[in-house]
Amino acid sequence: MPSTQSPTSLNLTRRLRRLRTSETMRALVRETRVSPDMLVLPLFVCEGEGVRHEVSSMPGVFNLSVDEAVKEAAAARAEGISGVLLFGLPDRKDELGSTAYDLEAPVQTATRAISREVPNLLVMTDVCLCEYTDHGHCGLLIDGEIDNDATVDQLVRTAVSHAEAGAHVVAPSDMMDGRVGAIRAALDERGFEKVAIMSYAAKYCSAFYGPFRDAADSAPKFGDRRSHQMDPANVLEALREVEQDIAEGADIVMVKPAMPYLDVLARVKERFGYPTAAYQVSGEYSMLKAAARNGWIDEPRAMLESLTAIRRAGADIIITYYAREAARVLA
Ligand code: PBG
Repeated sequence: MPSTQSPTSLNLTRRLRRLRTSETMRALVRETRVSPDMLVLPLFVCEGEGVRHEVSSMPGVFNLSVDEAVKEAAAARAEGISGVLLFGLPDRKDELGSTAYDLEAPVQTATRAISREVPNLLVMTDVCLCEYTDHGHCGLLIDGEIDNDATVDQLVRTAVSHAEAGAHVVAPSDMMDGRVGAIRAALDERGFEKVAIMSYAAKYCSAFYGPFRDAADSAPKFGDRRSHQMDPANVLEALREVEQDIAEGADIVMVKPAMPYLDVLARVKERFGYPTAAYQVSGEYSMLKAAARNGWIDEPRAMLESLTAIRRAGADIIITYYAREAARVLA
């Protein structure tokens, strides 16, 4: 028999296990809660009608035509989700990414339809050129390099077209310098002072975007995004990015990806105390899905644990492909 310590030799004034004795007790002292109204569901909107095409690397995520996107948005709202974040899959791409600001393109059309047909749901739009350029880069190429200021002009036109379509929030994800201030000024000049800006302020150059580039057909045809997205090794730089975007007028700042950058999230929240979003990106989602499909993890538990961790680190808003599944589990 293994020798056991005599219980009487322990003279503990505090036993931390007392507060873990039942689910009721644990709920009473729980520090972090996740609720559907802090979740935002990304949607990939394509041309056509009746299209609902599953993304092969993202089970449960679809390319949706506008009519299907409206149904998905309505279902998300019915489950208690606060917002959708729209990405566009245009039929036409060119060097300048000009379909990004076409009022008849999928994002603008879906924005009009969802804001008309789904009351009380926030329509947020991703503002970037990578889904619209034939070379797949986030900006205009001049001599093989992404030109910051020329790109900002295109982003401003894109954000204004989203506001004209009725977006409540525009979300620049390109990581060019000065785009938040330029977008804010352009929106205000045109009477869109109520449209909020959620800036992808600390967006890292991450391998975890792989499945998204599949879904959005937006992988760069050559080179990479290191000249504008952040080096994963840096955190002080993230604080400078956030500080600058707040100074330029961002209403919400975002850290992206989420799970590998919880420390960044915590420091951003702590330092600025600002409305803070975290994006649980495609690769984070697909990893959990893949493991679950192999029977290696309990998916609902792993999903909720990941969302709880992101919230605990400081996120007020979580953008996640799991939004609807999580809302159903939390109901
Ligand atoms: C750029 C954009 C990307 C994501 C959101 N906005 C891709 C990129 O920077 O390559 C990634 C989202 C995800 O992986 O879920 N428009």
